[in-house]
Amino acid sequence: MWRNFNSFLFSLLLLRQAVSSAILPRDNDSFKAKFVAVISVDGMHNSDVDKWLATGPSNISKLLETGYRYTNAFTTGPSDSFPGSLAPFSGATPRTTGVWYDDTFDRTFFAPSSGCIGPPGAEVIYDETIDFNSTALFSGGINPANLPQTLINGKCTNVFPHMRTRVNTAFEVVVEAGFKTAYTDKHPAYDLMRGPSGKGLSEGFFPEMNAIGPTVEDTIAYDLLHVNAFLNWIDGKDVANAEGSLGGKAPALFGGNFQAVSVAQKTSGYVNGTLAFTPELLKAMQFVDASIGAVVNKLKSNGMFEDTLIIIASKHGQSPIDPTKFGEVDPQAVTNATGVKVAEQTSDDIALIFLDDQADTEKAAANLAANKAALKIADIIFGDRLVEMGFGNPLTDPAVPDIIVQPELGIIYTTSHKKIAEHGGLNVDDRHIACFASNPGLKKTTFGTKVQTTQIAPVTLKTLGLDPNSLQGVRAERTKPLPGF
Ligand SMILES: *[C@@H]1O[C@H](CO)[C@@H](O)[C@H](O)[C@H]1NC(C)=O
Ligand SMILES: *[C@@H]1O[C@H](CO)[C@@H](O)[C@H](O)[C@H]1NC(C)=O
Ligand SMILES: *[C@@H]1O[C@H](CO)[C@@H](O)[C@H](O)[C@H]1NC(C)=O
Ligand SMILES: *[C@@H]1O[C@H](CO)[C@@H](O)[C@H](O)[C@H]1NC(C)=O
Ligand SMILES: *[C@@H]1O[C@H](CO)[C@@H](O)[C@H](O)[C@H]1NC(C)=O
Repeated sequence: MWRNFNSFLFSLLLLRQAVSSAILPRDNDSFKAKFVAVISVDGMHNSDVDKWLATGPSNISKLLETGYRYTNAFTTGPSDSFPGSLAPFSGATPRTTGVWYDDTFDRTFFAPSSGCIGPPGAEVIYDETIDFNSTALFSGGINPANLPQTLINGKCTNVFPHMRTRVNTAFEVVVEAGFKTAYTDKHPAYDLMRGPSGKGLSEGFFPEMNAIGPTVEDTIAYDLLHVNAFLNWIDGKDVANAEGSLGGKAPALFGGNFQAVSVAQKTSGYVNGTLAFTPELLKAMQFVDASIGAVVNKLKSNGMFEDTLIIIASKHGQSPIDPTKFGEVDPQAVTNATGVKVAEQTSDDIALIFLDDQADTEKAAANLAANKAALKIADIIFGDRLVEMGFGNPLTDPAVPDIIVQPELGIIYTTSHKKIAEHGGLNVDDRHIACFASNPGLKKTTFGTKVQTTQIAPVTLKTLGLDPNSLQGVRAERTKPLPGF
């Protein structure tokens, strides 16, 4: 009996090995490149890639001819937009980075210009509002007077975004190895990407997105600044109005984002019923594809294409895809429903709640549960479950919210009436994003296993011949490279 059972197990094992070696390619340890580009098409879902490929041949379809596509890739939860941006460069999620949202809270921080007087606990907001001039495209950068403060060795210190992250970034590792790096994003607050040393970016290019209009056309005009930066960087040239300099060398690691798709999703989205792209969203997809094509063409004309790994992965998705699922709930109703004093609530298609008194947590969660239907709540995460789900522990970590409220798919905690979709939350439309890696040396492969955008970080370093374990986030979360690498 036992013998039979064992040989049964053994044949199962053999079968499994046969199946896996037939279907899953081995990790490509030999793959190396001199340059890695990591570009986020903000908002682009995995399903958007399928819809786009169905429209015919494109620059994206060409990249996939010699690329690894990850059809079950997830960004961090939450992802808006700091944690989603940091994941592919740190290899870590909010519990490790300490970076939860671009507008959140810290129990040990003090208000800007407060001199760290009074009880600790302050909003930590890293968006256009920290600029010298938030309505100017080149806003003068970050005004330290607008930064939250904290006590470091007894000294009251302004906390720049890069000081907020607790783990190093791939940019820092690459710069330490003697190579150049560059990154572009929507606010000077993306100083974040420099990492704790503040030295990770040879060049940062942060035109202020808040200075431009709200339409898809305005956003395309803005995104073209990012495209122009990529093209300059491939030539080893600095971009006008950038912070820092490449010193004439093309960066070994560069990255940035496009927002046209995200803005189109928020304003036009998908056709009711078929969930096809609306014309505005299609226009944004065409723009992104042509922009990727421009980057590819520049790499080719410089003879760098064979030497470059291009990774396209969205820092966040957008929810809902199905317009009939959209709904708004007043965030103040969520705050009120807790029935206790709330220190801060980040409201989006998620609510992160920091309580005035953490001893109120169970009471607040019970009060919210009693209002689940009215507030369209799908899940209330707090206490042991918050810890078990990998979010960290609010009792020991000042950046972790006490309660995470996840609304039903499509519900946004807002009263703006301006958008039909948002991002940042934990549902599938927020997190199931586009992710693929391309190089002429890679064999076209589709990986259907569940992966995370944090797994991009070890790929970038491995590809450049650097040690993925030099990332603290990779060590802390045992982040594996994406399959295939
Ligand atoms: C801020 O920038 C805007 C747009 O360039 C400009 O009109 C305004 O005068 C600037 N404000 C200050 C205080 O410099
Ligand atoms: C690819 O990108 C290039 C450069 O922007 C563009 O001219 C072309 O129309 C795009 N599409 C295809 C199918 O190559
Ligand atoms: C979607 O279509 C249905 C059926 O025509 C209609 O009742 C509903 O209002 C539409 N919803 C949106 C968000 O357009
Ligand atoms: C929340 O409570 C405040 C104070 O009681 C009240 O003024 C406000 O109308 C409430 N808002 C909502 C949306 O329930
Ligand atoms: C692995 O990388 C090598 C070197 O770049 C390349 O020649 C080979 O085609 C790759 N294999 C796969 C399966 O992608």
